[in-house]
Amino acid sequence: MRYAIANWKMNLPPEGIDPYMRVVCGAQRDHATTVIAPPFPFLRDVAAQAKGVEVAAQNASDHDKGAFTGEVAPAMIRYCGVRYVILGHSERRQLYGEADALIARKIAVAMETGLTPVLCIGEDLRVRDAGQVAVHLSEQVHAVASAVGSGPIVVAYEPIWAIGTGRNASGALCAETAADIRQAIARFWSRSDVPLLYGGSVTPENVEDLVVNGAIDGFLVGGASLDSAKFLAIYNALGRT
Ligand code: PGA
Repeated sequence: MRYAIANWKMNLPPEGIDPYMRVVCGAQRDHATTVIAPPFPFLRDVAAQAKGVEVAAQNASDHDKGAFTGEVAPAMIRYCGVRYVILGHSERRQLYGEADALIARKIAVAMETGLTPVLCIGEDLRVRDAGQVAVHLSEQVHAVASAVGSGPIVVAYEPIWAIGTGRNASGALCAETAADIRQAIARFWSRSDVPLLYGGSVTPENVEDLVVNGAIDGFLVGGASLDSAKFLAIYNALGRT
């Protein structure tokens, strides 16, 4: 299964949600699944308009209900007609202190609720410069693999140095790292059915190299996903191989 995921983060598309959804829904073909991830308050709106595309939340609680001010339970996300949730994004890890153990609990609760998690993993430049990429990523995979069963899940490789920086991984680097990640998934999870995406400054300009050489099953797109035309150019590129 191939994916193009639009992570709006804490933004809305300048063209407006309704026109954006009309354009994106109208352009769907069957080479890849599109998933739109708006901020929480817009999940229901977007889900109501999501004809032929899926919707994701950008985060979820590791609890299913209770006294957790400001948190949103996976069951509440499901109730909005949403089937995916992005978890472990590096902005959650870095800015909000989410560690592997918490992310593993979130993934477990999300899966029990019937959401498909999109688990984000990735290294910073310090780790890459130290030659520790494979070890680091396999630890991130292991933390989740050891805590959850084998329901549907998607993994997104998102090198921190590439997110929002305009500096994407090349197709070759992506392929090399994707091989390490697939090896870790096979080793710790005994799975070979997990779609592996790339995220980090993907644009219509650099997508071709990533599609042809990146050895991945799709993209998690931030900045470029706010523009329906740019996002569709990335989605369409996935259909060309
Ligand atoms: P970017 O974000 O495409 O703006 O680099 C990707 C992401 O954070 O998912």
